[in-house]
Amino acid sequence: MKTYEVAIVGATGMVGQEFIKVLRQRHFPMSSLHLLASDRSAGKKLLVNYQEIEVKETLPESFEGIDIAFFSAGAEISRHFSPMAVQAGAVVIDNSAAFRQDSRVPLVVPEVNPEDIRWHKGIIANPNCSTIQMVVALSPLHKANPIKRIVVSTYQAVSGTGAAAVEELKVQAKQVLDGQNAVPHVYPHQIAFNILPEIGVFLDDGYTREEWKMVEETRKIMGTDDIAISATCARVPVFTGHSESIHVEFTSPMPPDEAQRILADAPGVKILDDTTISLYPQPWSAVGTDEVFVGRIHRDASHPNGLVLWVVADNLRKGAALNAVQIAEEMIRRDWVNQGG
Ligand SMILES: NC(=O)c1ccc[n+]([C@@H]2O[C@H](COP(=O)([O-])OP(=O)(O)OC[C@H]3O[C@@H](n4cnc5c(N)ncnc54)[C@H](OP(=O)(O)O)[C@@H]3O)[C@@H](O)[C@H]2O)c1
Repeated sequence: MKTYEVAIVGATGMVGQEFIKVLRQRHFPMSSLHLLASDRSAGKKLLVNYQEIEVKETLPESFEGIDIAFFSAGAEISRHFSPMAVQAGAVVIDNSAAFRQDSRVPLVVPEVNPEDIRWHKGIIANPNCSTIQMVVALSPLHKANPIKRIVVSTYQAVSGTGAAAVEELKVQAKQVLDGQNAVPHVYPHQIAFNILPEIGVFLDDGYTREEWKMVEETRKIMGTDDIAISATCARVPVFTGHSESIHVEFTSPMPPDEAQRILADAPGVKILDDTTISLYPQPWSAVGTDEVFVGRIHRDASHPNGLVLWVVADNLRKGAALNAVQIAEEMIRRDWVNQGG
């Protein structure tokens, strides 16, 4: 079996750490793994498969001999180093927002639009975490009965912001329980025991950048501009696992049992839906798993063609590292690694 030289840029971060786990768990065909981060982490050793690998500073020459580079160090780093990686012959799978809306770059969720990998020119973008779990759940329903409108509210975990935010929630929770003032650094207000309806910058229209990402990315992945979408994104004091309340309007009625039947066969989806025993998806039980969990499937009483779903996934895995590794696996399986040009 052919093996690949793999690099992770941002290997010390929340998503980077998950990349290391996912690559090992899925036996990704690697000849070697190169761990890259900022100069702050250079020389640090990380344990990979009982073996210590030294973290190196990301430099223009870091990509010589690399076949596949997973980028997860923010949009600025992706914009700066990705072209150098591609120039050196690597395929970049980028977790940041840098290239998601670039018409020359495919934006891929393997369960939904794997064919788009084919036209990559060296860079493939991994969508925003909240968008990934929503399209995995909605795309099979859309194929059966085209969706006209989506209204989604997200409940996003702090690990979606990165390692500093996880630390902030830990520290603030202790401060509050000890009767002290919680001091915010990462977020504009206290996140412990609180909810912040602000993810990304506010725009002139009252939405945030994150909310527009859900609209634009969903349309690009599902290959349609015809779906009306409105999102409200909130940060909640949960360490890992994003939850979403999704109200969908279809072209014709979508009975809940039909939606259940379609989703039972949908790739990457697991239904947890038995309200008689309080069975529904929850973030804490999604941590460390690969599926997109769907529950609370019921009619939307406000519209004859409406359906309501509650959707949960591990934002660091399906929302980031796992989806990116699945893109690489699909690219290898279909022999589309060397498409660049
Ligand atoms: N967390 C999620 O759920 C999620 C989901 C989808 C996408 N993403 C995206 O993934 C990226 C990383 O997120 P994260 O949550 O892992 O953040 P994080 O925990 O803050 O980690 C950031 C990583 O970037 C590295 N980095 C910072 N400056 C760098 C530089 N100048 N050169 C090279 N590496 C540098 C850091 O290295 P040092 O340790 O050396 O500083 C660290 O490894 C972001 O673009 C984010 O939008 C995150």
